[in-house]
Amino acid sequence: MSSTAVIAARVAVAFLIVFVSGYRLSRAGKPYGTALLTIHKLIALGVLVFVGFTVYGANTEAALGTVAWLAVGLAVVAFVATIATGGVLSALESSPATVKVLHAVLPFVTVVATATALLLLPLQG
Ligand code: HEM
Repeated sequence: MSSTAVIAARVAVAFLIVFVSGYRLSRAGKPYGTALLTIHKLIALGVLVFVGFTVYGANTEAALGTVAWLAVGLAVVAFVATIATGGVLSALESSPATVKVLHAVLPFVTVVATATALLLLPLQG
């Protein structure tokens, strides 16, 4: 399995791309550029899948404790909420202000929750 530093670096670079593309989407406004929106949502989904595989791998090597599972659960909830609000913003013709605020704040909650969950995994190195 990859070391914690390698996993953290991959997730950090992916989140950076998601944040930069998110702010560019926000600044350019609707209609959103298809390429930028596709990059934004596919990389966001990719991070979730990558974190899922990382958690699965860690749990196979040594069963995760309650605290680690709790952190993983919180990260998944934050991810799903961020993806859902992003989906609403991209699907509707005019974006509800509340959803815009949520999709501005939830990405930070997702990053913190994901970093915490990864730190609590018993990874090598
Ligand atoms: C972990 C997942 C995601 C993260 C971390 C994330 C992050 C961000 C960030 C930081 C912004 C800029 C918000 C601002 O201006 O304050 C943004 C904007 C946006 N995101 Fe995401 N995003 C995620 C997933 C998604 C998904 C899955 C979609 C679409 C299906 C999406 C659609 C959008 C759209 C349309 C905007 C522009 C909103 C606007 O006009 O203000 N996002 N995202």
